[in-house]
Amino acid sequence: MSLQVIILAAGKGSRMRSALPKVLQPLSGKPLLAHVVSAAEQLGNAAVTVVVGHEAEMVQSVMAKDFSLNYVAQTEQLGTGHAVRQANEVYGDDDVVLVLYGDVPLIQTATLNDLLGLVTDEHPLSVLTITLEDSSGYGRIIRDAHHQVSCIVEEKDATPEQKQVKEVNTGIMAVQGRYLRKWLGELSCQNAQEEYYLTDIISMCVAEGKGVATTEPSSEIEVLGVNDKRQLHGLERAYQLEKVEQLFEQGVTLLDSHRVDIRGELAVGQDVSIDINVVFEGKVTLGNNVSIGANCIIKDSVIADNTIIQPFSHIDSSQLAENCVIGPYARLRPGTNLSAKVKIGNFVETKKAQIGEGSKVSHLSYIGDTVMGANCNIGAGTITCNYDGVNKYQTTLGDKVFVGSASQLIAPVSIGDNATIGAGSTISKDAPEDTLTLSRAKQISLKGWEKPVKK
Ligand code: UD1
Ligand code: CA
Repeated sequence: MSLQVIILAAGKGSRMRSALPKVLQPLSGKPLLAHVVSAAEQLGNAAVTVVVGHEAEMVQSVMAKDFSLNYVAQTEQLGTGHAVRQANEVYGDDDVVLVLYGDVPLIQTATLNDLLGLVTDEHPLSVLTITLEDSSGYGRIIRDAHHQVSCIVEEKDATPEQKQVKEVNTGIMAVQGRYLRKWLGELSCQNAQEEYYLTDIISMCVAEGKGVATTEPSSEIEVLGVNDKRQLHGLERAYQLEKVEQLFEQGVTLLDSHRVDIRGELAVGQDVSIDINVVFEGKVTLGNNVSIGANCIIKDSVIADNTIIQPFSHIDSSQLAENCVIGPYARLRPGTNLSAKVKIGNFVETKKAQIGEGSKVSHLSYIGDTVMGANCNIGAGTITCNYDGVNKYQTTLGDKVFVGSASQLIAPVSIGDNATIGAGSTISKDAPEDTLTLSRAKQISLKGWEKPVKK
C-alpha cells in the first residue's frame, strides 16, 4: 500500500478576476498550490499528482521551478468527481488516495495524518469536516439517527432543512483506491449543477455497507478556500498573524504585529527587534540582538549578532557578519558579503562585494564585483566602474585603503594595502601600497575673467 495525493487544480477561479490562474495566486509570496504541495510532501513517501485544466501549462511551468510532480489534464471542468477520475491511472487498488484542493492552501500535515489514520477496511473513506456558524455555499454533512454519516448534499441540491446543518464538507478526503475507482465509475451528473460530484461517493460507501469516518482540523483557517481577492487577503492576514505569534513565542519585539510580513521562513535569535513595515522574503536568519528599522525589505539573507539595519534598507541574498551597521537607505544586492563591524551608509549600493572587517562605505557609493580588505574607508560618491558595456570586471582593495570622495575605480583594477586615493580621481591603473595615488586635472584660476551679462 502506498499513499497517492491528488490535488484538484483545474478550475479557472473566475471570481479572482485575474489572468493568473487561481492556484498560482500568491499567499505569503508563494503560489496557493505550492502551500498544498508542501503540506502533502511533508507526509513523506507520498506521490503527488495535480489535476490541471485552466492554464495548465502555466501552472506546470511555475510549479516545476520548485517541485517535481505528476500532472493529469482535465480539459473540461465537469465537477470534482470527474476531476479525480482523470487520475484513475495513477493509483492502485491497494493505495490510499488523499484528495486535496489547490485553493485550500493552509491545510496542515498533522491534520492530514489524522485523516489518513482513520482509513480502515471498515471505514474505507474518511472526510475532513468542519462546523461553521455560517455554512452557506458548502456541501452539508448529513448524519443518521446514530450520528453516522449517510451522505453529503451540495447547497444547490439541499432541502431547507438540510441547509440548517452546520457541519460541512471541506472537500478533503482519504479513500482506498479500489473503492474510489469503483465509485467514481458509478457517478452520474443528475443534480442541480449537472456535474460529477466527488461527494456522491459518500452515500456509495454507505450503500456498500461500510462506514465513513470524519475528523475536524484544529483550526478553521486550515480548510478555508480562496475564491476571490477578499478571501485571499483574509487568509494572508490570518497566516501572517500566525507567523507573528510564533515570533512572540520566541521573544521577538515587534513594534506593530500588523505591520510586518513574513513571506517565507524567518529564523531568529534572542532579543531581535523589528520595527514597522518590514517585509521578509524567502529564507532569512537574524542573530541575537539584531535590530531591523522601519520600512526594510530583507530577502534570503543571514544577519549575524548585534547588527543593526536602519530604516529603508533593502537587503537581498547577502551575508552580514556581527556588529555591522547598515543604512538608512542602503541597498545590498545579491552576493554582498560583509565581515564584522562593516558600515554601509545611506544611498550605498553593493553587489557581489566582499567587504573586510571594520571597513566603511558611508555615503552615496556603488561597490560592485569587489573584494575589499579590512579597515578601508571609502569616501562619498565612490564608484567601482565594473562594466564596460559588455563584460564585468573585478576591483580589489587591500587592507586600510583610503579612497577620497568622488573617485571612480575603473575595473579591472587593484589598490594595494594602506594606499590612499586622492579625492576626485579616476583610477584606471593599479595603485601601489603605502602610496598616495591621484589623477586630477590641474586647477587654474583665470584672472580678469568676466561673468556673462544678460542680453
Ligand atoms: C466542493 C464540494 C463541497 C465542499 C466545497 C468545499 C463537491 C461536489 N462539492 O464544492 O461539498 O463543501 O468544495 O470548498 O465536491 N475542480 C476541478 N475540476 C472540476 C471542478 C473543480 O479541478 O471540474 C477543483 C477546483 O479548481 C477547486 C476544487 O476542485 O480547487 C473545488 O471545486 P469547486 O467548484 O470550488 O467546488 P465547490 O462547488 O466549492
Ligand atoms: Ca469552492
